[in-house]
Amino acid sequence: MSTALFRKPLCSALVLFNKTLHRCPEKRRYAIKSGILERVVAAFQSISGDAGVSLGDTVREQHGRDESVHRCHPPDVVVFPRSVEEVSALAKICHHHRLPIIPFGTGTGLEGGVGAVRGGVCFSMRKMDQVLDLHQEDFDVTVEPGVTRKALNSYLRDTGLWFPVDPGADASLCGMAATSASGTNAVRYGTMRENVLNLEVVLADGTVLHTAGRGRRSRKTSAGYNLTNLFVGSEGTLGVLTKATLRLYGIPETMVSAVCSFPSVQAAVDSTVQVLQAGVPIARIEFLDDVMIDACNRFNSLSYPVAPTLFLEFHGSTRSLEEQVAITEEIAKDNGGSDFSWAQDEESRGRLWKARHDAWYAALALRPGCKAYATDVCVPLSCLPEVVVATKKDLIRNGLTGPIAGHVGDGNFHCIMVLDPNDQEEVGQVHQFTERLARRALAMDGTCTGEHGVGLGKRVLLREEVGPLAIEVMQGLKATLDPKNLMNPGKVL
Ligand SMILES: *[C@@H]1O[C@H](CO)[C@@H](O)[C@H](O)[C@H]1NC(C)=O
Repeated sequence: MSTALFRKPLCSALVLFNKTLHRCPEKRRYAIKSGILERVVAAFQSISGDAGVSLGDTVREQHGRDESVHRCHPPDVVVFPRSVEEVSALAKICHHHRLPIIPFGTGTGLEGGVGAVRGGVCFSMRKMDQVLDLHQEDFDVTVEPGVTRKALNSYLRDTGLWFPVDPGADASLCGMAATSASGTNAVRYGTMRENVLNLEVVLADGTVLHTAGRGRRSRKTSAGYNLTNLFVGSEGTLGVLTKATLRLYGIPETMVSAVCSFPSVQAAVDSTVQVLQAGVPIARIEFLDDVMIDACNRFNSLSYPVAPTLFLEFHGSTRSLEEQVAITEEIAKDNGGSDFSWAQDEESRGRLWKARHDAWYAALALRPGCKAYATDVCVPLSCLPEVVVATKKDLIRNGLTGPIAGHVGDGNFHCIMVLDPNDQEEVGQVHQFTERLARRALAMDGTCTGEHGVGLGKRVLLREEVGPLAIEVMQGLKATLDPKNLMNPGKVL
């Protein structure tokens, strides 16, 4: 997070505390010169219709922020293209007038990736919401950028297939590809990086690129550089994603879930490592620290022991589940874990996972009226206990509220920092804490972001993480694809 961000008032704070003020101080200011603004709006309308272009303050404001604590940066105009041809035509106009292009999915990002920090045109993709080509027998599907993960899964309901990548929000799949998102199922099914086979992208000058070649969807290839991977995690800085071809999976015959508490963080993480080493194809293994489980208990009127806890889920045939479960129970027991509390039918599994899924709101309820910011470091598995223990000490020493929830199977965890955005001192303290945490992870060969992205606030940390040469190479790639620096400027690099 940049210090500049934290020094300025937060948009949402103003919403709450001074309704008469303009919520976003600069909302009536346009970055585009007024003569040009009218001309481009008319041109946009001739492409996407009057209903496909908005200059309204409310719409602009909705598109200037995500779910993070980053300040709202409204774009000058929001366009709602209905097809790749429209995206391309709109981009050509932006290119001609050198206007920034900011792709927008559902606005559920967590790192300020959609703010129009230099003004410009927001491309809201929500009207492009069709599932295009489903190949059941090949386990793949192609979707337009407005399709969300839940919409895809309800479309797939009767096919016996599903798409498992599950960030907390019902995000758009192309937005998830753009941020290289993941979630609780990644330990078994991988992140967006492993699950995108091809992308259709409109580049800054309006040309249309198919990263793996038009229509290609083979499960493997050795053909040339992996351009698909270059766009996964590019956060809108290289092009607008207009189609994604995704891998699908068979819905497992049976699923069972369990909860188990441990005497220490070390014991919970050791169990995780041993379960993975034993080759158990565990589908989810989530860690909640004592503070987090306490918050969940209060929020959902539950009574889990207040101790480091693992939430687990197993997918497979009934026979294979028996084996997976037996091995896991034995490992947990060897590490001092409590007896498993089980959930098998859909309803009780739902109830169990609700506690985990509500973690964010449970954390917020610890301090009503506050906002939350989730840190997102990821380290090699064996470093996890050390980094979690050091982080808990740091939180206590500085009197900060930050319950921990993590995708331990991936070495990725979040401190959900609950803070009062109007208390500048606290905001500064949280900022310093998140930087210390990121540097702690970097010192253990980890990353400053496992699944949320770099966005606005982690650009300095990215530089520290990959080094100046890698940054130079990234800048070179960016300059090749977007020489005028129009694609989501001010982000990532
Ligand atoms: C290329 O990258 C995509 C997206 O990250 C990935 O799904 C695919 O497996 C990669 N292909 C190869 C051949 O590595």
